[in-house]
Amino acid sequence: MKIKRTHNCGELRKEHKDESIALNGWVENYRDYGGVTFIDLTDRWGLTQIVFDPSISGEVHKIAQSLRSQDVIAVSGKVTSRPEGMANDKLDTGEIEVYVTELEVLNKSKTPPFDIHHAEDVNQEARLKYRFLDLRGHHLQQNMIFRSRVTNIIRNFFINNEFVEIETPILTKATPEGARDYLVPSRVNEGKFFALPQSPQLFKQSLMISGFDRYFQIARCFRDEDLRADRQPEFTQVDLEMAFVDQDDVMAVIENLFEVLFKEVFNKDLKLPLPRMTYDQAMLEYGKDAPDLRFGLKIVELSDVFKDSGFGVFANAIADGGFVRAINIKNGVDSLSRKDLDEMTPFVKTYRAKGAAWIKVNEDGPQSPIVKFFKGGEIEALYEKMGAETGDVLVFIADKESVVCQSLGALRLHFAKKLNLIDENELNLSWVVDFPMFEKDSDGNPTPTHHPFTAPKPEDVDKLDEDVFAVKSNAYDIILNGSEAGGGSVRIHDNEMQQKIFSLLGIDEEEAREKFGFLLEALQYGAPPHGGLALGLDRIIMLFLKAESIREVIAFPKTQKATCLMTDAPGDVSAEQLEELCIESTVELED
Ligand code: AMO
Ligand code: AMP
Repeated sequence: MKIKRTHNCGELRKEHKDESIALNGWVENYRDYGGVTFIDLTDRWGLTQIVFDPSISGEVHKIAQSLRSQDVIAVSGKVTSRPEGMANDKLDTGEIEVYVTELEVLNKSKTPPFDIHHAEDVNQEARLKYRFLDLRGHHLQQNMIFRSRVTNIIRNFFINNEFVEIETPILTKATPEGARDYLVPSRVNEGKFFALPQSPQLFKQSLMISGFDRYFQIARCFRDEDLRADRQPEFTQVDLEMAFVDQDDVMAVIENLFEVLFKEVFNKDLKLPLPRMTYDQAMLEYGKDAPDLRFGLKIVELSDVFKDSGFGVFANAIADGGFVRAINIKNGVDSLSRKDLDEMTPFVKTYRAKGAAWIKVNEDGPQSPIVKFFKGGEIEALYEKMGAETGDVLVFIADKESVVCQSLGALRLHFAKKLNLIDENELNLSWVVDFPMFEKDSDGNPTPTHHPFTAPKPEDVDKLDEDVFAVKSNAYDIILNGSEAGGGSVRIHDNEMQQKIFSLLGIDEEEAREKFGFLLEALQYGAPPHGGLALGLDRIIMLFLKAESIREVIAFPKTQKATCLMTDAPGDVSAEQLEELCIESTVELED
């Protein structure tokens, strides 16, 4: 390579006029005007227009005419002001262009399978297969550079606050975060498997017992679970743990971290402390444990209004131990059509609700398929409770609690999007606290809401023997625009309590020793009180960038089916490799 760049492609300005410079980069665009050839030259910093004029060098101009998109070139030449009226104010370098005197073709490119700078509408499969090209596009490049910057701010924040960065193993034992493990067979220990960590949970607790006091790690985690727009099988956590702290100390560190991020990334002042809501309130008023607080449409509990309702669907749901709840869509009469209301029924059926009822609050009285069943006084009590005014539309679900929460929680979001109630530029952070310690699994047995190392609230310890499902824990989630951005808890640091929780979960002593033996052992050697949290880094970057999918902020993401189309992973292995690992496959291998 003879011509080495003196500047990058985003750097040159009017001040550089008449300087002799050199640029390296990729050909993005190629245009011929009146015998002169214009090329947009790009690199990760930007785009510079370079000009090949046959009157400067016929030979160079001739080679330039053979250049095509994504060829790699080096040029040297002179910076010139663009002629009057030709400046491009959309471009940082838009006031200048470079008249090329020398050209070196560093590498030719095959014709790219898609226009890498405008890949929005290209199918995902092609983009993932040619991810190395997709990542050359401005959009993904900016995302990755942004991610690097945010990660760096986070790392600095923890270092500045006297946290120690410690890496924990990737080849390890099963960790209990509730997903399936990715397993790795061990060749030298026949028939045995490592599990990839679902999180560094056990290690970070053990580090507290080792006395590190404040630990953090930008940690890779692996979970074999069904994928969604905000989930990947391998993802990154900002993981931290602290000793000699309570819940408020951990939450304060996270709040300060977000304060720094808001300032440095968006130049915004984050108002602290962040609002806190209990899990119970979140479920009641928003129908989910990660409420989107960018808009209202709060859910209202109406069982006292309807317990003796003339409308059988409502009265019966309450009599069966269920609930009737509703949201008030302000001024919905004007903005919602009959079709919008009819479409609620199939919509809520996906959440197992039997139907969704509605009332339009018209000037001349309520309009609805259900009010004719109401008894005297019901509509007045309802309006009062809902703060209903002329023009509002009330939407009801009657069912068992989980169905009511899920259906109304989803309808809330549905209508907020439909009616443009969400300010897409807002970043709304809040806490949800006081999670129940256990939830019911499909057989009605207790399973940890968070994970089995979370401490019960001290005032609820007695309830462990009486009513496990009434026990609340010192667990907390941080919510960003209705997504769980992170979660953590104060941990059990007492061996006896830990054993007790295991036994409530139906894990006997032998199983506990087998699975988490080292932690149980460590708890007996001077474990300090400790607690922590893990943030989903990919998710936070995605929300910061308003990206549609977590894939937009991960350099080499996996497909919905957890495959990598670029490397073709997972792939077949040879019979010899399997034999070496003492594994016999039940799947027929292709020849
Ligand atoms: P939890 O399981 O809540 O807690 O995970 C913490 C955060 O990680 C993110 N996250 C994911 N992001 C992308 N893809 C996934 N598949 C995925 N799964 C989780 C979420 C979530 O809030 N060890 C505990 C933390 C602790 O107690 O300190 C843990 O892992 O944003
Ligand atoms: P029906 O009497 O079944 O025709 O229902 C009258 C109205 O109540 C319709 O708009 C239904 O969608 C609605 N509805 C039915 N079941 C429920 C339910 N469980 N919760 C709320 N609304 C319902």
